[in-house]
Amino acid sequence: MQREHWKISDLPWDQFDSSKVETNVLEIIKAASLVEFNAHDYAAYLCNVFPDDAKFQEAARSWSLEEIQHGEALGQWAERADPSFDFRGSVARYTAGYRVAVDTAQSIRGSHSGELIARCIVETGTSSYYTALADATDEPVLKALCRNIASDELRHYKLFYDYLKLYLDREGLTRFERLKIGLSRIQETEDDELAYAFFAANAPADATFNRDLYTSAYMVRAYRFYRREHVERVVTMVFKTCGFKPHTVWQGMANRAAWWLMQTKTKRAMRKAA
Ligand SMILES: [Fe+2]
Ligand SMILES: [Fe+2]
Repeated sequence: MQREHWKISDLPWDQFDSSKVETNVLEIIKAASLVEFNAHDYAAYLCNVFPDDAKFQEAARSWSLEEIQHGEALGQWAERADPSFDFRGSVARYTAGYRVAVDTAQSIRGSHSGELIARCIVETGTSSYYTALADATDEPVLKALCRNIASDELRHYKLFYDYLKLYLDREGLTRFERLKIGLSRIQETEDDELAYAFFAANAPADATFNRDLYTSAYMVRAYRFYRREHVERVVTMVFKTCGFKPHTVWQGMANRAAWWLMQTKTKRAMRKAA
């Protein structure tokens, strides 16, 4: 029997504490709410890319409902923390300027396995992000919400990973092909999606979008919550996705490289944002 999913009304709203809301956190939560709420576009894209797999299509539709709920819950929290924030209005501003290309019959990753690797990488990122945020915030509602979302994201990772194993049996990508796709998806974190969401959620109405500026603004606020253990978990999940054995000397090296890269990117973003 499938367990019942958590509800937004189950969150401890009566414990909401405005004195524990940090401005920087509020800004990135507003941005996250828009990206999560946009998941129905990704479900449509995934259904187009997997036209012959009804079971996967059904799983993708259920997955997107959970992502949309993440957006709705984060949006409600942000409106509570900042009554001037208009979640629906920001969603409209975001989707007017940023759209996922859904009407494609082929994965932009070149294969079904490639598509599933990209999905695993995204869920790796989100599960570590919400874990880091839950660990960092002292606001009780946000802490509980980020914990719920982080466990959903981990379950999403497992969902896509299980399908990845099935498709790898058919398509047989090598570990290096998998790694190449994984790294390119990680690199895309700096594309417009998050930067535009940060802009749509936070910039004044008359501001114009500047990718560099808003990528830096987002990065400076988001990366500072990551501690070493969060980064190591990301590396473990990326290793698993690409077929490399985790917890080896290679992973030790990758952990150090990832941590160094994150610090370097944060410092560079801080200079740009300043
Ligand atoms: Fe999510
Ligand atoms: Fe997810």
